[in-house]
Amino acid sequence: MTYVCIWRCVMVPPGPRIPSLAQTAWFMRDPMSALETWHRRYGPIFTVRFFGFPPEVYVATAELAEQVFRTDAGGGRAGAARRDFLEPLVGRHSVLTLDGDDWAGHRKTLTPPLRARQVAGYHDEIAAIAAEKIAGWPLGEPFTLRDRMQEITLEIILRLVFGIRDAARLDRLRALLPELIEAGGSMTVAMLPARLREPAGRVPFLPYARFLRLRATVDAILYDEIARRRREPEGTDVLSRLLEAGLGDEEARDELITLLIAGHETTATGLAWAFERLLRLPHMLRRLPDDEVYLDAVIKEVLRVRPVVYEAPRLIDAPLRLGGYEIPAGWYAGPFIPLVHHDAAAFPSPEEFRPERFLDGQQSRAWMPFGGGRRFCVGAQLALLEMRVIIREVLHRLELVAPDPVPEARRLANVTLAPARLTRVIARAHSPARTP
Ligand code: HEM
Repeated sequence: MTYVCIWRCVMVPPGPRIPSLAQTAWFMRDPMSALETWHRRYGPIFTVRFFGFPPEVYVATAELAEQVFRTDAGGGRAGAARRDFLEPLVGRHSVLTLDGDDWAGHRKTLTPPLRARQVAGYHDEIAAIAAEKIAGWPLGEPFTLRDRMQEITLEIILRLVFGIRDAARLDRLRALLPELIEAGGSMTVAMLPARLREPAGRVPFLPYARFLRLRATVDAILYDEIARRRREPEGTDVLSRLLEAGLGDEEARDELITLLIAGHETTATGLAWAFERLLRLPHMLRRLPDDEVYLDAVIKEVLRVRPVVYEAPRLIDAPLRLGGYEIPAGWYAGPFIPLVHHDAAAFPSPEEFRPERFLDGQQSRAWMPFGGGRRFCVGAQLALLEMRVIIREVLHRLELVAPDPVPEARRLANVTLAPARLTRVIARAHSPARTP
């Protein structure tokens, strides 16, 4: 059969035909089930239509993902793709929401202090923060590990990235920042179309208005800290370096919130998954924490089977040929990372938790928990170091067990795919024979 296109023939990837409101509702309730169902039905490239947003093309293979990441060199805008969801929280001057030359300038400033060699200098402080927090964990009763991990990773960002030492200020931010992230990352705020934000902000009882009040309170503290640091320059933390590099107040504020948003809940969720998996695989747990090489492989495998960030979209600004289709300008395209990580062609027996895949030092190009292209996660080295150090500190100090042996499902928790029960554990002191 021959098709003749008289005017212009554009084949876009197939996708669900239910109304966009129903697609959005399904995704918000259970993103894994929605996207896995559509993947099974439509194949490795499919279109989802979220209410109030441009259509989004998801891809499920490393090859297609790489083609999307290649658009970072021109034609794909990661900043614009994130702006719709993140700008209320991180602002207009964030490396997350910028594109083009402005993005390149900010990225150039942020990259050096977050390189592997630089973050290695934080090793002992990370271990000390972890030890201090672990000492306060309850013994003999169940608790949610993700919340405890978040306290550790928040403290790391506050002290090592923000460089805040003032105890009262630290206390206020410790209380306010998780609330701000919760409010700003909730679906009702993040998925609120831009044109509805202004009116929603004027109705005091709506979640968006509450979020704006919280943001104003946090901003006042941050601007105050920025002003203080300009008067009394100090420290080797990331904020000091941003100010030295000449960032203005609003730019510095936006990048601080960016590093916090991008850097603390993600790492805490990665750690929660590490324990959720390991507590169900006692033979692997026994090899840890002293086998460093194995620990590295375990962390990589955790981030493969349970990637924390589920997508890395780009706003396409020129038509893109992808997988035999043409993606129109103005649409989003990006990998759905859990599907790429479960592509059997890249990872044989993908459901199996097998750290050995990473032991030979080979890195599969299909492993993309930190995204790819030029927008690859700038904090990846800090995140991996935190995971190594914190897992080691926990295992040296306590014995953890899962009160319920059934694996935890995945659910959306703000910007991450988290364990449904946030990793329920019971901690006990090591038996005397094992205590170092
Ligand atoms: C396990 C922890 C983490 C995971 C899974 C993770 C994952 C990601 C992913 C998937 C992206 C998008 C990449 C793309 O679009 O191709 C990203 C970007 C980013 N991440 Fe991370 N991240 C983690 C930790 C961190 C940390 C600790 C920081 C900073 C302290 C950080 C800062 C950022 C920033 C600033 C970006 C935007 C980069 C840009 O657009 O140029 N992340 N991250």
